[in-house]
Amino acid sequence: MCFFRYGGEPGAMKPVKAVTLWWVLLLVSRLGATRKESLEEGSFYYGTFPLGFTWGVGSSAFQTEGAWDQDGKGPSIWDTFTHSRKGNVLGEETADVACNGYYKVQEDVALLRELHVSHYRFSLSWPRLLPTGVRADGVNKKGIQFYSDFIDALLNSNITPIVTLHHWDLPQLLQVNYGGWQNVSTANYFSDYASLCFEAFGDRVKHWVTFSDPRTMAEKGYETGHHAPGLKLHGTGLYKAAHHVIKAHAQAWHSYNNTWRSKQQGLVGISLNCDWGEPVDISNPKDIEAAERYLQFCLGWFANPIYAGDYPQVMKDHIGRKSAEQGLDMSRLPVFSLQEKSYIKGTSDFLGLGHFTTRYITERNYPSRQGPSYQNDRDLVELVDPNWPDLGSKWLHSVPWGFRRLLNFAQTQYGNPPIYVTENGASQKLHCTQLCDEWRIQYLKGYTNEMLKAIKDGANIKGYTSWSLLDKFEWERGYSDRYGFYYVDFNKKNRPRYPKASVEYYKKIITANGFPNPQEVESWYLKALETCSINNQMLAAEPFLSYMQIMTEIMVPTVCTLCILIAAVLLMLLLRSLS
Ligand SMILES: *[C@@H]1O[C@H](CO)[C@@H](O)[C@H](O)[C@H]1NC(C)=O
Ligand SMILES: *[C@@H]1O[C@H](CO)[C@@H](O)[C@H](O)[C@H]1NC(C)=O
Repeated sequence: MCFFRYGGEPGAMKPVKAVTLWWVLLLVSRLGATRKESLEEGSFYYGTFPLGFTWGVGSSAFQTEGAWDQDGKGPSIWDTFTHSRKGNVLGEETADVACNGYYKVQEDVALLRELHVSHYRFSLSWPRLLPTGVRADGVNKKGIQFYSDFIDALLNSNITPIVTLHHWDLPQLLQVNYGGWQNVSTANYFSDYASLCFEAFGDRVKHWVTFSDPRTMAEKGYETGHHAPGLKLHGTGLYKAAHHVIKAHAQAWHSYNNTWRSKQQGLVGISLNCDWGEPVDISNPKDIEAAERYLQFCLGWFANPIYAGDYPQVMKDHIGRKSAEQGLDMSRLPVFSLQEKSYIKGTSDFLGLGHFTTRYITERNYPSRQGPSYQNDRDLVELVDPNWPDLGSKWLHSVPWGFRRLLNFAQTQYGNPPIYVTENGASQKLHCTQLCDEWRIQYLKGYTNEMLKAIKDGANIKGYTSWSLLDKFEWERGYSDRYGFYYVDFNKKNRPRYPKASVEYYKKIITANGFPNPQEVESWYLKALETCSINNQMLAAEPFLSYMQIMTEIMVPTVCTLCILIAAVLLMLLLRSLS
């Protein structure tokens, strides 16, 4: 069964802005001339992951918890952004209830057990712990209790918590009073908040992620305005936000290193999301440079300061030159002082990587639109191959080989750091109640296999987090994109969960710690599709059940009442005729 919740194709997000037919044709002809997929790229690699490799799934607080104003939680910028109902979110959806996760801890831990994962990556809601965002204003004890119980429930099930401190839901009052990430003070408030979390949960949590995908937070929050707080400070706001986020990350790391590490023996890192950028023409130096630029503006923007002490040279050059052309006497890219550089360098115990898809990159050889912007600063064009399978989200094409290249790039650029894959996954193709998610299985299989190849190449990958446990609130896309292993029925009050076929498949990869041999891997696939058709029937039966409910609750009493009335009338007539 299929229900189409929203008409038309929403235009909220189009990362590939300049794909015209002309470009696509050019791409196809150039690809044909220059590229032959190597055998190794196309082939499947059978083998297992290193001993101790950790498998998990992820989620974030705002996307799943709901209970947005319960038990003392303060509002976040995303509560405000979704409540403003100015077309910010597809279908004017909010995350007031989301997956109702705040009230379903035991149930969700049971799902994690069923998946056989060894870790669960989730985020803490800053305003649930500090309602105003400022520690000195008071801590919400019920918030501490909630996460404390959750962490205990995971540990009791032998599931390691990987905890993100900030996944975009900034306390609203920090935005209103101080301008959020535009103000360097927010870095201090973040550091105080981080210390509170280390203090409250660090006895049990050994893996901390300071920020999740800060690039998207900066770009969509402060440049395009598609995310909270919805500001459009073109060409400036995002660089300033990122600058303060990097400082905040470093402060939190130092606070852990100085105060908590000796007692708690944990790790603190950051999670950066980046697609792979492949040159359109690998024999054209301009395309190679453009692809390198794409990666530096994406991953290097945050990773370079943390691993090498400063922004990538190519960002400094490009933004500096454009700023001068625009008549500014200073670069729009902020500058770290010498002291800050050495303070920031080396502040990551591991690199968290989020990755979903790949782009072909070529240099932009036509003049840019007027005015400063991130797009103009990069001087490049992003393209997709029309042959790549497209998944549920418009921007998400399945290109497994790009994952291996990104992992190898991170390995060589940043001195072979320990890497945790913190996000990787696929959304659903149709607005259907499809539990037979074959394409997610293919994506999972292809991407994890390329990760295995990257490990054989020498990348130091410690764990993999598939995105995500549940279908959930997908930011400006509302509930239209479904990334979950578990289907969530958002039309029902208590948000029931149903396993998709990929649950069965992922469980098999985890149990085997890889891909043992062709026969076995093939049997997983068949088994997964078998179980899902049963589950699909279960789900399809739901509307019938509620129809039955209407029958029993309304029809039966009505009919009975009518019967009694008719009987009464007949009895009266009978009595009258007798008398
Ligand atoms: C930045 O935050 C501080 C409080 O920490 C505040 O005094 C200051 O006015 C803020 N600056 C702006 C521009 O909002
Ligand atoms: C981290 O903490 C250790 C132990 O206190 C200290 O020796 C080291 O210098 C710290 N690292 C940095 C970069 O501050």
